[in-house]
Amino acid sequence: MKAATVVPGKPELAAVSELPEPTPGPGELLVEGLLVGACATDHDVTHASHGVLPPGQDRMVLFHESLGRVRYAPAISGFGEGDLVVGVVRRPDPRPCPACAAGQWDFCLNGEFTECGIKELDGFGAQRWTIEPRFAIKVPARLGDLGVLTEPASVVTKAWEQAELIGRRAYYAPRHALVTGAGAIGLLGALLGVQRGLDVHVLDQVTDGPKPDLVRRLGATYHTSLDDLGCEPDVVIEATGAGEVVFDVLRRTARNAITVLTGIAGHDRTLPVPAGAINDELVLDNDVVVGSVNANLRHYQQAVRSLADADPAWLGDLISRRVPLDSWTEVLTRADDDVKPVVDLQA
Ligand code: BGC
Repeated sequence: MKAATVVPGKPELAAVSELPEPTPGPGELLVEGLLVGACATDHDVTHASHGVLPPGQDRMVLFHESLGRVRYAPAISGFGEGDLVVGVVRRPDPRPCPACAAGQWDFCLNGEFTECGIKELDGFGAQRWTIEPRFAIKVPARLGDLGVLTEPASVVTKAWEQAELIGRRAYYAPRHALVTGAGAIGLLGALLGVQRGLDVHVLDQVTDGPKPDLVRRLGATYHTSLDDLGCEPDVVIEATGAGEVVFDVLRRTARNAITVLTGIAGHDRTLPVPAGAINDELVLDNDVVVGSVNANLRHYQQAVRSLADADPAWLGDLISRRVPLDSWTEVLTRADDDVKPVVDLQA
């Protein structure tokens, strides 16, 4: 079978590789890979140092945003042949740490977790893959290809949950939400805000292409400058990872605001910030800034429900490109208006 493979940090070695057919271990599902979605992490795994090869392997199957169809399921697995499934990205560390032992691998304490297609485990960019049923998420048949949005939706589901958990510290009745960045994470974050009945604002730098319209079709408001916001957000889902945006936003939030950071900027970027003013703003307004990464089972399950409740035409328009497996490296190069490129593993 064919698979998209990489050697982390050596983009020139990104390839389509011929790999042996996988054999499911005891209790495991055999899945036909249908689609994988590409995000900035895949670029970083290929080009920079984010990825780690599985022990003993000289290349790794890339991609962590998956959609597949079950081809074989053991009798008591809870899955049946033909079911659509998505694989959970992160797996608990082997010790395990107390968080992983409690099933909270998205809060792993010792950093020895593994992640499919990112850290020490093969990803889902292969024509067949195997998976333990406890790490497979069932997707309703009517979602079809849109199921490939489950993993990014799980990441923002966790982000929203963090805001809501923190909100419980006091009176919490948010009205205005700001999402910074109109990529797939930002747009799905905006969708979840609209589904919560909030007045949602989305900030991005592009003025044309599909993003402004996707935001408007959600019933949210699109901005290219925070000066035009017209409100003080109670909740912010930050999805750019750009320091300039993060620190600018922190000074514009409402009292008791909660800002959830989901983007990654790269370690070596520096910028001067008005640290004293930001400190005072956070303290005097009871503001909270929290980072959020990865997702747990309940976030995937909630993500599937949110996708099923959304307008399928709108979700379909998030998928901006479909590339056959043989040309998969094309998804690593993305234009500003490229929301979610996917690789068709069977084309
Ligand atoms: C993935 C997460 C992962 C994170 C860090 C993101 O792109 O969606 O599942 O935990 O990268 O590796």
